[in-house]
Amino acid sequence: MSERYQEFQSLLRSNAEAVETLLTSLLSAEPQTDEIARPERLLAAMRHGVLNGGKRLRPFLVIESAALFPGVERETALRIGAALECIHCYSLIHDDLPAMDDDKLRRGQPTVHIAFDDATAILAGDSLLTLAFDIVAAPQTRLPDATKTALVLALARGAGIGGMAGGQALDLAAEKQAPDEDGIVTLQAMKTGALLRFACEAGAIVAGASEEDRRTLRRYGETVGLAFQIADDLLDLTADAATMGKATGKDADRGKATLVSRRGQAWAENRLTELVTEAEALLAPFSHRAGILVETARFIATRRN
Ligand code: IPE
Ligand code: IPE
Ligand code: MG
Ligand code: MG
Ligand code: MG
Repeated sequence: MSERYQEFQSLLRSNAEAVETLLTSLLSAEPQTDEIARPERLLAAMRHGVLNGGKRLRPFLVIESAALFPGVERETALRIGAALECIHCYSLIHDDLPAMDDDKLRRGQPTVHIAFDDATAILAGDSLLTLAFDIVAAPQTRLPDATKTALVLALARGAGIGGMAGGQALDLAAEKQAPDEDGIVTLQAMKTGALLRFACEAGAIVAGASEEDRRTLRRYGETVGLAFQIADDLLDLTADAATMGKATGKDADRGKATLVSRRGQAWAENRLTELVTEAEALLAPFSHRAGILVETARFIATRRN
């Protein structure tokens, strides 16, 4: 393992700890201003779905893309990362429901609907989606209103019908009728890519960066987003549940249309290498400052869980 990679791993870990701490306080039992009460069982389900040791890759991308620019408070980037992680965790809670992928294991624990029940899992997802926008808008997020509005808009576009949720709909439809490869690329860019794209673009938005820098990070996010889902599909085929903390071999069972099932493992590995090269080339304008993001692209493509 290269020194650079070890450095990356320890940074990923320390950021994850900071994210975990912030999410823990955001999911405290104390009702916030204008909240009437926080129902205990619902809060417990939200905590179960969030505070359970994910990689926290999306917040990491927000923090490290913001760190490319001078003058961004780390705490502010962390809050935007935590907001995004709430949406990601909501998407996983709903993804695991019987009506969707029907999974019983997530991050090495029972899924939320197994530990609680379907209705509570649905509501935990709803509440986390809403909490995400609460976190962005809240006064504790020290950003100009115009920046918050831009973040809300980008996050909504990434999470909604034209992004993650729409992609999940296409993904389910694809179980019934397999799309062609362009169709698979589109559905994956939506279900997984859109939130990762937001993660990278958010750094530029928070920093008030130039349009050009924002576009560059957006394209980097799209590229690592594609790589992320190809790696996920590859791991579904090659890894075991103990390593992944979730069931594997499920895509083939359910007849999921993936590029890995279509083109095979060797093609996917090759494509991942290409995408890392593309991501690295995109970051060239940031030169050495983007070293961590280059390493992140490599991690996304070669991760083992
Ligand atoms: C898994 O995401 C779901 C997909 C979008 C494919 P991650 O692999 O980032 O899951 P956690 O957050 O680390 O558990
Ligand atoms: C899930 O994709 C993507 C979202 C939750 C938006 P998968 O269904 O492949 O994710 P896993 O494999 O269950 O984590
Ligand atoms: Mg799914
Ligand atoms: Mg799934
Ligand atoms: Mg998967």
